[in-house]
Amino acid sequence: MQSNMQTGGRRVIVTGAGSGLGRELALRYAKEGARLVLADIQEAGLKDTLAMVGALGGKGFWQRCDVRDFSQLAALAQSCEERMGGLDVLINNAGVASGGFFWDLSLEDWEWQISINLMGVVKGCKAFMPMLMKQRQGRIINIGSMAALMQAPGMSNYNVAKAGVVALSESLLVELQPLGIKVNVVCPSFFQTNLLDSFRGPDQASKQQIAKLLESSPITAAEIADIVFTQSEADTFMILPHESGRAAWAVKQGNPQVIYDEMIRLAVKKMALAES
Ligand SMILES: NC(=O)c1ccc[n+]([C@@H]2O[C@H](COP(=O)([O-])OP(=O)(O)OC[C@H]3O[C@@H](n4cnc5c(N)ncnc54)[C@H](O)[C@@H]3O)[C@@H](O)[C@H]2O)c1
Repeated sequence: MQSNMQTGGRRVIVTGAGSGLGRELALRYAKEGARLVLADIQEAGLKDTLAMVGALGGKGFWQRCDVRDFSQLAALAQSCEERMGGLDVLINNAGVASGGFFWDLSLEDWEWQISINLMGVVKGCKAFMPMLMKQRQGRIINIGSMAALMQAPGMSNYNVAKAGVVALSESLLVELQPLGIKVNVVCPSFFQTNLLDSFRGPDQASKQQIAKLLESSPITAAEIADIVFTQSEADTFMILPHESGRAAWAVKQGNPQVIYDEMIRLAVKKMALAES
């Protein structure tokens, strides 16, 4: 761990920083000379990310933090205050994957998904809110998903959690703007990470289908991190890193039925695959 955290570049907190997009976001900000606070439930991943941050000339520290537990997020906020005197950017990135048709998903599957992908973001915002309000400056970047906007079949609990992240971000955008605090929400399509390690759901077929979609992404997690950095700095509220995602969102805004028809077609295909 680095000791001199009181001076230097921007202070950036990343949840889920032990892997995937969270790690790449940490590295992108490290290139800008940021001071990083890395949080995750996987300590080995956090140590690796911190070593990579150090190799880029950045500094920071890591702290184990389960975003389901508000007291751990409050302790993270306290560490930021004590070691860096505040924060400049909070990135609520930690998340897990899930899938399965609605009739197969248990209520426990729902509660698990919502507790991490939605309530983890709510609690992250809440834990850092007193500091942000006292500072009257700072930025919150919430990692949503195209799932929030498209509602693909066979992943209703994930879709709802991520739609909640978008709605929360829109709510915070309007409430916090007058206080000088900026908000962004990021909605990527699928891209390759370790996300499927956390997959929970009744049918393994949908896990395999998602694996294929992750592999097919034309852009990497590092490229998405770069887009998030650049577009948040330019104050683009809703960041859609994938070209295909931007196109689909434009279609849905113009004529939602076109997307519903496409999703029904996908649902029928998915049901046939599940039965075969
Ligand atoms: N990979 C994709 O295709 C994709 C697409 C859209 C959105 N996203 C979102 O991007 C974010 C990052 O996911 P990723 O793809 O990099 O996956 P990843 O699995 O590589 O990284 C997620 C990290 O979050 C951590 N995490 C999980 N539960 C946690 C908890 N309760 N508390 C703290 N940390 C926890 C994991 O340990 C892991 O290190 C997630 O919010 C995900 O939903 C991913």
